[in-house]
Amino acid sequence: MTHELIRVEDVGKTYGSVLALREVSTVVNAGEVTCVLGDNGAGKSTLIKILAGVHQHSSGRMLVDGAATTFGSPREALDAGIATVYQDLAVVPLMSVWRNFFLGSEPTVGFGPLRVLDRKKGKAVAKRALAEMGIDLRDVEQPVGTLSGGERQCVAIARAIHFGAKALILDEPTAALGVKQAGVVLRYVAQARDRGLGVVLITHNPHHAYPVGDRFLVLKRGRSLGSAEKAEITLAELTRQMAGGAELEQLAHELGGVDSESGAG
Ligand SMILES: Nc1ncnc2c1ncn2[C@@H]1O[C@H](COP(=O)(O)OP(=O)(O)OP(=O)(O)O)[C@@H](O)[C@H]1O
Ligand SMILES: [Mg+2]
Repeated sequence: MTHELIRVEDVGKTYGSVLALREVSTVVNAGEVTCVLGDNGAGKSTLIKILAGVHQHSSGRMLVDGAATTFGSPREALDAGIATVYQDLAVVPLMSVWRNFFLGSEPTVGFGPLRVLDRKKGKAVAKRALAEMGIDLRDVEQPVGTLSGGERQCVAIARAIHFGAKALILDEPTAALGVKQAGVVLRYVAQARDRGLGVVLITHNPHHAYPVGDRFLVLKRGRSLGSAEKAEITLAELTRQMAGGAELEQLAHELGGVDSESGAG
């Protein structure tokens, strides 16, 4: 019943002499959300850049639709139906919402040298696709820069769905957002999932991951602390894994021990 879109098995990545990722395994199924959690430098972006064709893995295997795959470029990943939304690179701020929605794939009218942008159709299609996701913008002609961070993420998600992505990778879509905006983005993540996409959600925040996630891969300094299905792990346990219980206690001890030691080197 579940369709496996992507599987990584013992995937590793070195940048020169830097070992950024080692022996990481997980799956991305259609209609499910795989969350990748971990602190700064844990290897989250490295992992998704391998899935997105930005980097190639140095060891292990990646299976896409069951076949061992290495993407040579982001274009190849996109052609395989894997769309990636980056935190900041998702949109061109001064361009209108609808142009951003198409970004190079705008509908045209006429032929050959007489071909011109079909603005009317473009706007209508973008507006409809956004409305289907429950994003109701007064004017799709307004610059994307005037949208909130959450709305921009939503435009990028709607675009990926509209252009037929099978898998959607979101690199920290909620990182810069307030509680309410983050909630809105997570709702669209759930919508993409309900439409049958396999979603990879990267986040620092277990409270964002847990409600929408089906499985959780926790990375720490390039290593996997394991990939758990939702039924196997509680939010408290996930939070503890993320924070590293012992380290937090150590930190509490350190912070508690410091009294007015200011100015020191
Ligand atoms: N292009 C690169 N060249 C060399 N080292 C890199 C490169 N990209 C990442 N690294 C290193 O690989 C490790 C993992 O980085 P990565 O960006 O995957 O972490 P991350 O989990 O996404 O962190 P963050 O939460 O800060 O985004 C880090 O030690 C980083 O310095
Ligand atoms: Mg990152």
